[in-house]
Amino acid sequence: MQIQDILAVIKDEFQAVDSLIHEQLESRVPLVEKIADYIVSSGGKRIRPLLVLMTGKAFNRCDADIVKLATVIEFLHTATLLHDDVVDTSDMRRGNPTANAKWGNAPSVLVGDFLYSRSFQMLVDLKSLEVMDILSHATSVIAEGEVLQLTNVKNPNATEQQYMDVIHGKTAMLFEASTYGAARLMELDQDVSDALKIYGRELGLAFQLVDDVLDYEGDAEALGKNVGDDLAEGKPTLPLIHAMANAPEDDAKLIRQAIRKGGLDNMDDVLRIVRDNGSLDYTRQKADDCAARAQQALELLPDSDAKEALKALALLAVKRNT
Ligand code: IPE
Ligand code: IPE
Ligand code: MG
Ligand code: MG
Repeated sequence: MQIQDILAVIKDEFQAVDSLIHEQLESRVPLVEKIADYIVSSGGKRIRPLLVLMTGKAFNRCDADIVKLATVIEFLHTATLLHDDVVDTSDMRRGNPTANAKWGNAPSVLVGDFLYSRSFQMLVDLKSLEVMDILSHATSVIAEGEVLQLTNVKNPNATEQQYMDVIHGKTAMLFEASTYGAARLMELDQDVSDALKIYGRELGLAFQLVDDVLDYEGDAEALGKNVGDDLAEGKPTLPLIHAMANAPEDDAKLIRQAIRKGGLDNMDDVLRIVRDNGSLDYTRQKADDCAARAQQALELLPDSDAKEALKALALLAVKRNT
């Protein structure tokens, strides 16, 4: 199954999410609409709403409420991107200059806040305290993940465990909230809901692990964002953590210094070291393991095209180059 086949399973609903996204961007303040529309219209893979819709489809319940939840989740995601690009001082996103590069930090942060609040306004319409609980919890954990990552910037002593903690917070949590939120909205059995939660979490971990490999090996044009940003900011992601533990002493030392210093002066050496010591392969392998666990968790679901599509999505998340 390719991405087109996956999308075909929920084509109409996907379109409905897109319409609702644009409808809900409405604001009486022109700059809010302008910035929100700018980032939303530059696209994005819409993988999180896809997860919500597909979960609904797997139980023949892909109704208006599921479409609304999918929209809420994409709004939350977009809000985190606006904030993330400010804290990461990134200037490319979705193939365009970031909102902060175009309008500055203050409007980006404030419009991010607007998208957060608008998503909770939409969530109220769903009238499910349980789903509200899942999403409000998820947003706090995401914020914590971003802050935890910040405290480890330029720290060469960060551990693999701390790294996993960060990516669970900043990325996997929203994937998990997508599938688990949809499951609880449909009031599925708890064991099936829990399986979907594991699926979302493992898929999210795999997704971020690959993202961190692509920051070294990816193609900026395909990704629509810069590569090398993690090293430039001194972020101890898994490829570097693995290399520091496994490379010969001099090389390990070079990586430690590159993390402490930040910047891209040592990119060529760092790339050589993470390649030669199998650190990118190690990170990819870990992503593959997470994707396999995600697929495994789906065993509990009844057979359907949507279930196959969810399985295929786990594979695509680790094979992607965009
Ligand atoms: C970007 O997420 C942030 C990460 C978790 C790596 P996506 O790669 O899903 O971003 P878009 O929505 O497709 O632009
Ligand atoms: C992704 O953070 C997670 C969030 C946006 C919360 P990253 O900083 O790793 O992702 P990119 O590389 O900017 O997309
Ligand atoms: Mg970033
Ligand atoms: Mg970031």
